[in-house]
Amino acid sequence: MGDYITELTYLHGYFPELSPVRMKLALLKAGLHAPEVTNACELGFGYGDSIVVNAATSSAAWYGIDLNPEHVAWARNLARSSGASIRLYEDSIVDFANRDDLPEFDFIVLHGVWSWVSPESRRAVVDFVRKRLRVGGVFYISYNTQPGWAPLTPLRELLTEHAERAGKNGTPLRDRVDAAIAFADRLLESDPAYAADNPGVAVRLAQIRKQNRNYVAHEYFNRHFSPMHFSEVASLLAAADLTYAGPANVGNVDAVTLTRSQRALLESIEDSTFREFVRDLLVDRSLRRDYWVKGPIAPLPHGDRSKLLRGTPFVALTPNPALHPRLRAALALNGGPGPEAYRRIVETIERHALTSLEAIEAALHPLEASLDQILDVVLLLGREEQLAPAQADNDIVAVRGQTQALNAQLLSRLRSGNGLDYLASPVTGTGVRVPVLHQSFLLALHLGESRPEAWVKLAGTIPPPQPGNEPPGSADRPGDPTQLLERARRFAEDELPVFRRLAIA
Ligand SMILES: C[S@@+](CC[C@H](N)C(=O)[O-])C[C@H]1O[C@@H](n2cnc3c(N)ncnc32)[C@H](O)[C@@H]1O
Repeated sequence: MGDYITELTYLHGYFPELSPVRMKLALLKAGLHAPEVTNACELGFGYGDSIVVNAATSSAAWYGIDLNPEHVAWARNLARSSGASIRLYEDSIVDFANRDDLPEFDFIVLHGVWSWVSPESRRAVVDFVRKRLRVGGVFYISYNTQPGWAPLTPLRELLTEHAERAGKNGTPLRDRVDAAIAFADRLLESDPAYAADNPGVAVRLAQIRKQNRNYVAHEYFNRHFSPMHFSEVASLLAAADLTYAGPANVGNVDAVTLTRSQRALLESIEDSTFREFVRDLLVDRSLRRDYWVKGPIAPLPHGDRSKLLRGTPFVALTPNPALHPRLRAALALNGGPGPEAYRRIVETIERHALTSLEAIEAALHPLEASLDQILDVVLLLGREEQLAPAQADNDIVAVRGQTQALNAQLLSRLRSGNGLDYLASPVTGTGVRVPVLHQSFLLALHLGESRPEAWVKLAGTIPPPQPGNEPPGSADRPGDPTQLLERARRFAEDELPVFRRLAIA
């Protein structure tokens, strides 16, 4: 096997944390100044779903690389449809880092790459960020971490070792993956002490058995695999003068992920690197997604964080946003807003197409909930994909033509089974998950069909997604025509107004 698998392509996937609008919210939550993004870059973009959508939904010029020719061809083809500013290179990180015809970037992102590439490629990432990210610019990185991976590392080693041996006679990777999984099954049947001491191993192997083989190949079968503690990553990134800014998954609010005593423990730790390391132990973390800032951290002046947070617009992504009772209970128990305040917060969100923390605060009784308590509810709704931050009006107007062109292309691809599970919203400045059935209704509307009966007819002609590209929920499609018509009518009443609000329909 080479440095990184190219024999099998990766999966499609969109990650909103790679968009400037989400970066800005996370930095604001952390009380930090966020840069304006004029030039942005994604390293190892895979099929390019994130970079293509993020280029269409923002006014920034995007640059991206991936070493797999099939990925790059696919991404270039889709990117052409939006008219957005996007340059896609078929290149390796090492060679790209040595180019001298690139601008200074305000935002560089790297998702699902760091833990699987060689130490040389990781050094090239750091070198690239050192040279190409401007001071005050933001670096996003996700990586596999500890302690979550500790019990599973031997399982992953077993799979790769088996596949490397089977690979000597030129067996295709897909078959070697199957053979390695079958061997791991046999090992577990022999009751090894490793599995008895680490019960999570059998659970993980059961998951792997059911997962898409392309995903499994990239996740478990690359030669290099190195889950790292936060402190190790921090010391490597220090060479690019990066300072930790905060988590990208802002929806994992402390009030529901940590107990009161855990929060008190963390608050007692002054050193931020050690605090993050301890935080990972508290939640048994296996994947981190973080933002880092180049140069010294720039805290917002006193009072600006609250002012900017209050003014940030949010838009509902579902007809009736609501938190699961379990989350509501966890919030209330951990010092979050009480049931009455929660009800008023959600009512305000429901009543307004676009809302803000300021508008929500105004709907509450004085002192009923603090700004950060309201923010926790909003961010949790965001984690559940029921609410998202919105861009400023002028940004929405500026990118609307690009998102319309991209969405028209994505919808037309449904007919060949090449649709994806999201569309681009100029309002949120991100991709928004849209089940294939709803996309077929939107396609019918786009073609001028205004009646649910006609939408159902068109939906019947949409083939199932290509194997390996089945979006979640794609099996969730009633076979019975009466039920399908009922679904289309409900869509017209409930979801369509939301898609209009998001400027997707
Ligand atoms: C696990 S995939 C993640 C893709 C995408 N970022 C995502 O999260 O969906 C890793 C990607 O990095 C690319 N890659 C791996 N090593 C690379 C290198 N040295 N230079 C450029 N791209 C690389 C692979 O081709 C692959 O598309």
